[in-house]
Amino acid sequence: MASGVSIEVLDLRHFAAPLLRTVLEAEGEVWRQRLHWDYRASAKLLMQYLDSHMLPGYVALESGQVTGYVFCVYEETKAVIGDVFAMPEGDGASHAGSGAAHEVEETLLRHLFETLLNSPQLCRIESQLLLHPSGTHAGSFRNAGFEVFRRLFMVRQLESAIPDPRVELPAELELRPWRDDDLSAAGRLIAEAYKGHSDSEINDQYCSVQGSMRFLHNIARYSGCGVFAPQVSHVVLDRRTRELIALVLGSRVSPQSGHITQLCVHPTYRRRGLARMLLSIAADCFVKLGAGEISLTVTAANTDAIELYRTDGYEIAHTFDAAVWQRA
Ligand SMILES: CC(C)(COP(=O)(O)OP(=O)(O)OC[C@H]1O[C@@H](n2cnc3c(N)ncnc32)[C@H](O)[C@@H]1OP(=O)(O)O)[C@@H](O)C(=O)NCCC(=O)NCCS
Repeated sequence: MASGVSIEVLDLRHFAAPLLRTVLEAEGEVWRQRLHWDYRASAKLLMQYLDSHMLPGYVALESGQVTGYVFCVYEETKAVIGDVFAMPEGDGASHAGSGAAHEVEETLLRHLFETLLNSPQLCRIESQLLLHPSGTHAGSFRNAGFEVFRRLFMVRQLESAIPDPRVELPAELELRPWRDDDLSAAGRLIAEAYKGHSDSEINDQYCSVQGSMRFLHNIARYSGCGVFAPQVSHVVLDRRTRELIALVLGSRVSPQSGHITQLCVHPTYRRRGLARMLLSIAADCFVKLGAGEISLTVTAANTDAIELYRTDGYEIAHTFDAAVWQRA
């Protein structure tokens, strides 16, 4: 290593949560500074998994101290690399992703790639390292045979009052807040809305109704991306078929920050202002919950959606990479 510090890389399953506490706290600080995201709930969940000693991954050990980790989760024949992080040197978050920390993360990733790529049962590996600026680990992913997709983290500052967001809907359409039993219909809508879409290449859950329902379960039932906010989430349905034709889902990633976890409109109903209306309704609800900003992520190739977000006041605050490996 350039820093001259030697690191040992060991199996994550041998390490109980308290041994990673310092690293997770340092990471939480980076999430807070860079994305205004309260990482404590995610860290708590991760620590529960660590204590079960079943989470696949590696830790970096320097002079007997854990200074970094990487982990993945398996979903049948797919692995999802959930995170890689190494302690920033010096005094703070601004050093993350550079120098020795960067090298530790690259070393951890190489170990995980080697394990995963040599697992014959695996057909696919996905990863979205939201915290790391685009390009940070792109070279390592590409060298291991991954395709890399640039994604944007966009933020809209919220004024105290959003102009009345409702538009007059055609008689056959109905707007209402999200209900728990919308999950199956929402799964059907997502699978339809993302057919042939670049985001289905990044997240293959979008390719099927069942996969989309797994995605929704994770968002709405297990708060996999912040704490799900049913008050913010809305659907539009066709009164005749009772099928959903558009939806927006929101969650809270900190008391001040809301996050749009999903926005989609059935292809038949596009360019009628439905997405813009749903975004405004979500913004209005977030203001009422006391949030000062909303964030969302979008693939750089999704120019239609980016145009919508820009005209709605969202600006790029950060970029990151998604990576996909598919067995030939
Ligand atoms: C992106 C998406 C949600 C837009 O839904 P929509 O209801 O058609 O959007 P709206 O009618 O509210 O359009 C609002 C603005 O977005 C932009 N926009 C939307 N679709 C566009 C397109 N095909 N081409 C160019 N601009 C487009 C335009 O600025 C548009 O305003 P305008 O119609 O006054 O020009 C929809 O295309 C969709 O579901 N796509 C697949 C899923 C997806 O990409 N979701 C976003 C993931 S981050």
